[in-house]
Amino acid sequence: MKEQPLLTPYKMGDLTLKNRVVMAPLTRSRANNEGNVPTEELQGLYYELRASAGLIISEGSQISNEAIGYINTPGIHTKKQIEGWKKVTKRVHKKGGKIFIQLWHVGRISHPYFHNGELPLAPSALNPETKSYTKDGFQKTVTPKAMTLEDIKRTVADFTQAAKNAIAAGFDGVEIHSSNGYLFHQFFCNSSNIRTDKYGGNDENKTRILFEVIDEIKKVIPENRIGIRLNPSMHDSGGIFIDEETIPTFDYIVKKLNNYDLAYLHLSEPFSDVSEISFAEPNVAKRYRPMYNGTLMINTGFTQESGNKIIEQEGADLVAFGKPFISNPDLVERFALNEKLNEWDATTFATPGIKGYLDYPLLGEM
Ligand SMILES: Cc1cc2nc3c(=O)[nH]c(=O)nc-3n(C[C@H](O)[C@H](O)[C@H](O)COP(=O)(O)O)c2cc1C
Repeated sequence: MKEQPLLTPYKMGDLTLKNRVVMAPLTRSRANNEGNVPTEELQGLYYELRASAGLIISEGSQISNEAIGYINTPGIHTKKQIEGWKKVTKRVHKKGGKIFIQLWHVGRISHPYFHNGELPLAPSALNPETKSYTKDGFQKTVTPKAMTLEDIKRTVADFTQAAKNAIAAGFDGVEIHSSNGYLFHQFFCNSSNIRTDKYGGNDENKTRILFEVIDEIKKVIPENRIGIRLNPSMHDSGGIFIDEETIPTFDYIVKKLNNYDLAYLHLSEPFSDVSEISFAEPNVAKRYRPMYNGTLMINTGFTQESGNKIIEQEGADLVAFGKPFISNPDLVERFALNEKLNEWDATTFATPGIKGYLDYPLLGEM
């Protein structure tokens, strides 16, 4: 029988991935301790169980206190967090796995609750009109503070420090979370960015902060250990709306990323049906594969079959699986044996403790 493309090794820069099955970044909200520190017993075991993936991308991890928007998400900006992550990366490496951390700033998808009553930061003072999850339950978002040039400078420095911390914590690299309606995505789109300075208006300005962050991070960690995540066709979610300029802005970003020797570009197919949305791109991989020269990772809604196909037919290099990895720690083994998958339970995606986190059965335990 022909080998499945998903199960073939892949050389990503100076790293050799044992297969092309990537664990997508998944917020699981289990860092419910003071200081939002990952622990060996929870995150350590959770990621170790998934170390047969060619690459694990960690859950979004805040780069500073300012970057937080959800309860119980881990950070990568304190000594304790770095020490906690060390135990996690050690466990993954011991099992022969590779792990990047996703560096996260939520921008306006937050609430004064997280910032001692201060407003969250964003490109412009535009309320996303969504909800933020706090210890007191869901709360309506507010009109954020438009970032000053000083705020932007500090944020770029926080990303850079977080990347340094990540390497100190034993991660193989970092993924910049420039996706899903969070800070960078807010800069890219007209629905969230009405700035008139050098961070708003044309493509160069709207994407400036992303390239500043990449340029700074590559001074402190190798360029080929930096991944970028984009979700070009996200629409009507978190206050992001597509208009005629959105996809051209993403085209600009992707083409400019060719100037860098990155670990990968991680793209999401649309999160919702955009066939009726003018200006959206329904086939993200198809559009961007020919535009991007480096390693292309694709995500959203893939199965074993469609994952193999997108590598073979569209030329994707890697496929990231999200929900299937929540309920199947041994997803790679299941693909290899053509075994059935456990179903995920969405009610325990973000609840504390081991239920829905460490209790999905492995193949031998069924
Ligand atoms: C519970 C949950 C948490 C998620 N957390 C993150 C996150 O921290 N960072 C991120 O970029 N995407 C996050 N996502 C999106 C996933 O990475 C992925 O794009 C999405 O699940 C679609 O892929 P799938 O169809 O394989 O599940 C999350 C998705 C889910 C279901």
